[in-house]
Amino acid sequence: MDLISLYPTWYEPTVGSGWVVALIATFHVLASHTSVGAALLFAYLSHKAYREDRDDLLDFVKKYGLFLMVFTYVAGSITGPGIWYSTTVASPNGIGALIHSFVWKWATEWVFFVIEVVGVYMIVYLVGKVDKRTHMKISVLFGIASFATMIIIIGILSFMMVPGKEQWFQEGGYLNGFYGTNTFIQMGMRVAFMFTMTAVVGGIVVASIKDAAFKKEMARKLGWLGIIATLVGAGLFQLYLTSVPSQALLVMENRLPDYFGPSIIAVLAGTLAYFIITMLRPQTLVQGFAGGMAVVILVAGLWPEETARESMRKPWVAGQYVYSNQVIGRDVPGMDVKSQLPIIEKVGILQAHPFTPEHLKTVTDNNKIQAGEFIAMTYCSNCHSPSQTGIRPLHRYFPEGITQARMESYVRGVLTTGNIAYMPKMPMIESEVKALSAYLMLNNSGGDAAVQVAIKEELKAADHALAMQKAQDKVALTQEAQ
Ligand code: HEC
Repeated sequence: MDLISLYPTWYEPTVGSGWVVALIATFHVLASHTSVGAALLFAYLSHKAYREDRDDLLDFVKKYGLFLMVFTYVAGSITGPGIWYSTTVASPNGIGALIHSFVWKWATEWVFFVIEVVGVYMIVYLVGKVDKRTHMKISVLFGIASFATMIIIIGILSFMMVPGKEQWFQEGGYLNGFYGTNTFIQMGMRVAFMFTMTAVVGGIVVASIKDAAFKKEMARKLGWLGIIATLVGAGLFQLYLTSVPSQALLVMENRLPDYFGPSIIAVLAGTLAYFIITMLRPQTLVQGFAGGMAVVILVAGLWPEETARESMRKPWVAGQYVYSNQVIGRDVPGMDVKSQLPIIEKVGILQAHPFTPEHLKTVTDNNKIQAGEFIAMTYCSNCHSPSQTGIRPLHRYFPEGITQARMESYVRGVLTTGNIAYMPKMPMIESEVKALSAYLMLNNSGGDAAVQVAIKEELKAADHALAMQKAQDKVALTQEAQ
């Protein structure tokens, strides 16, 4: 049987499935990065508290720890599984590819995470109950465990952009997939920005400090941490761009909105200015200001960064071999993975897809629009919404009044051949080219309403044809019987 491993498409009409994933992931990044950065900060502060025998520093650790428990651990633990759920339905083969290579890495990460969660409780609730030396040791363990979770996850994340080493494709091996130039640069960059977030979110805690001198000390500490981290992170971002596949740079240069560059620079400048102001005038650091700044970083800094990383990977979603539309587009001998393109080329996407409804397996006059819609859902909707809103709506790309012939020649000449760097190769047999084109035309001129009307007609016509067929069969049978 010429079937390939595709799953039903999860289609979210308003914003698109990709954005649902991105929303959850951005929250998760803020929570997880803040808590890892804070874990390292705690290790440093409780070490200092022990060396200099200071209670106020431990008190700060306790307050910030409590804030983390309520904010980042709850938000992080809710959004973490949220990423699993949403990516599993949005991108089952993409997640499959990651699990195929890294399931034990994830298990290891989880062990460290358990230590981390237990650690944060110990850090908060054992202040004053154990001596400072013991507290310092707990903090250091907590820091190490937190950092370990991050290193593991970044190895997996960077694999999504590109496997660590080229030989992974031939030889497999998780270390080949895990470690590469991209991994280490991304790690450095994330560590830097993680400290930026720790410093910003920490501002919310510093804002509540009553003692003016101590508040000033902590504002300065966090300010320096934030400034250095932000500058180092910005530098590493430039380096990071040299480590991604040239394809990704092409997509980024041509396809990111014009405001992307300037807006990132504005966020960086704003963040630096914020730290300088709070260092010079700690009294301006009130909770509203610090909280507002955390939101700004989230919305204006993290969101564009994470969505850029996401779009730079196009047309792939994982490891440069699973396309965003879930089709496996490349042989990976090292993992015993075969490209699915040859099978689709042979039998067409409708026959190859195991979840194509029976009545759409073959294109006829009475199911053309439905078949076209199904193909668009399967092939395009991960990257283009067929509706009016959402991600890169399809109707934006075709001129008003485009003819069926022109549409077909675009679909045949560009989409089935994979002639465009940022889109997958999407093989279709001739009847599918015609069906998809007919659907795209209708969607272009009349939107979903027109499509639904046409589908109703098709269903009616199909019913009618079936009734006629039955009647004829009956006649034939009676004739035979006579
Ligand atoms: C991997 C994601 C991805 C998939 C899948 C995909 N596209 Fe695209 N497509 C893009 C990107 C990225 C662009 C660039 C335009 C942009 O970013 O606004 C694009 C551009 C286009 C354009 C604009 C013309 C051009 O040549 O740049 C058309 C038309 C188009 N896509 C149609 C389709 C159709 C129809 C399908 C499904 C059969 C499809 N695309 C599948 C990512 C994708």
